[in-house]
Amino acid sequence: MKEKIDEIKQKIVASTIQNGEELESFRIKYLGSKGIIKDLFSGLKEVANEQKREVGQLLNGLRTLAQEKFDSRKEELVSEDGEASKLDVSRPGDPIEIGARHPLSLVRSEIIEIFSRIGFSVSEGPEIEDDWHNFSALNFPPEHPARDMQDTFFIEKGEKEMALRTHTSSVQVRVMENEKPPIRTISPGRVYRNEAISARAHCFFHQVEGLYIDKDVSFADLKQTLLYFAKEMFGEKAQIRLRPSYFPFTEPSAEVDISCTICNSKGCNVCKYTGWLEILGCGMVDPNVLEGSNIDSKEYSGFAFGMGVERIAQLKYRVNDLRLYSENDVRFLKQFKGGI
Ligand code: DAH
Repeated sequence: MKEKIDEIKQKIVASTIQNGEELESFRIKYLGSKGIIKDLFSGLKEVANEQKREVGQLLNGLRTLAQEKFDSRKEELVSEDGEASKLDVSRPGDPIEIGARHPLSLVRSEIIEIFSRIGFSVSEGPEIEDDWHNFSALNFPPEHPARDMQDTFFIEKGEKEMALRTHTSSVQVRVMENEKPPIRTISPGRVYRNEAISARAHCFFHQVEGLYIDKDVSFADLKQTLLYFAKEMFGEKAQIRLRPSYFPFTEPSAEVDISCTICNSKGCNVCKYTGWLEILGCGMVDPNVLEGSNIDSKEYSGFAFGMGVERIAQLKYRVNDLRLYSENDVRFLKQFKGGI
């Protein structure tokens, strides 16, 4: 055993270590968990008892020698090559994760782009609104159920009521107050409603409001504008149909369906076998609303519409659960690459 130790000692002293690779082989050979020295230590139990102490000391010395040789060569090698030894220019780079735009941002940008081509500007308003802009100026009677605590998140009740806006129609009012017709604008933004969160409803979501006011604006203009939008968004084959409806701020009002993009109007469970999907509300701006914002309703008329961005995204990307849009699960988000 002693001769063996001596022999290895000579080898360690004599070994030349020229580079990092050789340094690593040295470490594995002598100091590694399956290395020579470890092996000798496990042979210690076969050594006669009276020699154990001496051999143990020799082995410790051997290990220290190997460790010192390793440490000093390592230091020398680094200073010999300087930083260059650490920099391997041929090594492939680490992959960089490229982010993806949120599907709602993609759809929002696409809606803005489609309407900007026919002269609509973008206007925005605050998410915390007063009663006037969210309700009163839009012709909601004081006792209208939409003002109820059920739907609206109130921030301040009483004299000056403040709430999270329940729709982007509030921006219509702000634009009409600040600009003179002709007005052609869309208002994208987040809205809030006091709803239980499920696959089909959420306490916040996104809308795009549209407003067009000028002389002689007619219902036919509204219909044609929405048909143009449907075709740009969902393809040349898209059709729309209007159903009479009611909104306090438009008269007449309509709800708009598009031909089902999923089954090509043949009938499927998304369109509930009707071939049609509801996508937005619209109508001719009620004269009361125009007058409330100091626009002469005898001189001017206009149309308005409001659509849900999640709804459009759902149809475009076939995402059926609204919660996915705000859960920030990267596995969901990274599927939406590209776009504008
Ligand atoms: N504000 C309505 C809502 O949130 C949507 C809407 C309907 C907007 C008709 C309009 C409109 O501008 O004319 O349900």
